[in-house]
Amino acid sequence: MADGGQRPAYENPVEGLDSGYYAKSCPDMEGIVQRIVNEAFDADYTVAAGLIRLFFHDFAVGGCDASILIDAPGSEKYAKSSKTLRGFGLIEAIKTELEEHCPRTVSCADILTAATRDVSREVGVGYWPLKFGRKDGKQSSAAAADKYVPMGRESVTDLIALFESNGLNVRDLVVLSGAHSIGKATCAAVKPRLCNSKPDTLDRKYGDFLRRKCRHSGYFAEYERVELDGETPTVFDNMYFKNLERKMGLLETDQKMLEDSRTKSFVQEMVREPEEFKHEFAMAMRRLGEVQVLTGNEGEVRHKCSAVNKY
Ligand code: HEM
Repeated sequence: MADGGQRPAYENPVEGLDSGYYAKSCPDMEGIVQRIVNEAFDADYTVAAGLIRLFFHDFAVGGCDASILIDAPGSEKYAKSSKTLRGFGLIEAIKTELEEHCPRTVSCADILTAATRDVSREVGVGYWPLKFGRKDGKQSSAAAADKYVPMGRESVTDLIALFESNGLNVRDLVVLSGAHSIGKATCAAVKPRLCNSKPDTLDRKYGDFLRRKCRHSGYFAEYERVELDGETPTVFDNMYFKNLERKMGLLETDQKMLEDSRTKSFVQEMVREPEEFKHEFAMAMRRLGEVQVLTGNEGEVRHKCSAVNKY
């Protein structure tokens, strides 16, 4: 099995992260996160897609430091790529409860990481053990998010560059793109593909369906949404990869994963091995959560996830 390139930084344990980090200072941390996430998921299963995407966007700009959660003029939350992000309220609700149990102890970066793990479990992704001790970043820039967060029209080369610059490899890119097995995209993200796609890159019937669904433009294109996996949109499975083989990838970037020689064999492997996909997804998410983390005296533990601390 090819591994998709070098596996540098993340194979080594990250200094400052520890599975027992909150054992004394907040022993119920994982239990509290899990309970609130499970309640939220039972009320609305779409929180899973929302949180998984939020976690990815946090990673994409300066690593997992909860910078995406800061609500301030010009912060990542106000980038074009953040317009439809969801899950902010859920993370803040967990933070509020944790502040009651163990004030000023648990970072928002750790909460986001644990909540994403737990909600992924709810949709059937395997469990992955976590280490804690991340600190929260103090900076957050919409301009940086607009530069780094992919929006669906990038080249595979650009996507590989984003992942490799964060110590992840081509295989991770393919496996993690399998997150598009659940959730939705706005017609605004899909429309360019419908207008420009070469006839041989989009299934004709699926294209017609999307054109009907996304016939409105302007305001409506921002809010009309279509499933990223047109076949089994609520089940976390390898159908996303099978769809690519049927020319039913919703985003331009999704479909390119099968067309590009660097990513194609990994897509085909995920088609053949549904269980391996889920297992690898869990392992790749674990690595994602250890990218460029702040630990020790770096960063801070925010009192509220939406704002840096005032001293
Ligand atoms: C690497 C290239 C990627 C690109 C270009 C991309 C792009 C997009 C776009 C354009 C949307 C729809 C946004 C909208 O119109 O509202 C979306 C949705 C989503 N993305 Fe990605 N994404 C990528 C990777 C990832 C990764 C690695 C994950 C998670 C590990 C992820 C998780 C999701 C989820 C779950 C949704 C659905 C969100 C919802 O239903 O609210 N994406 N992505």
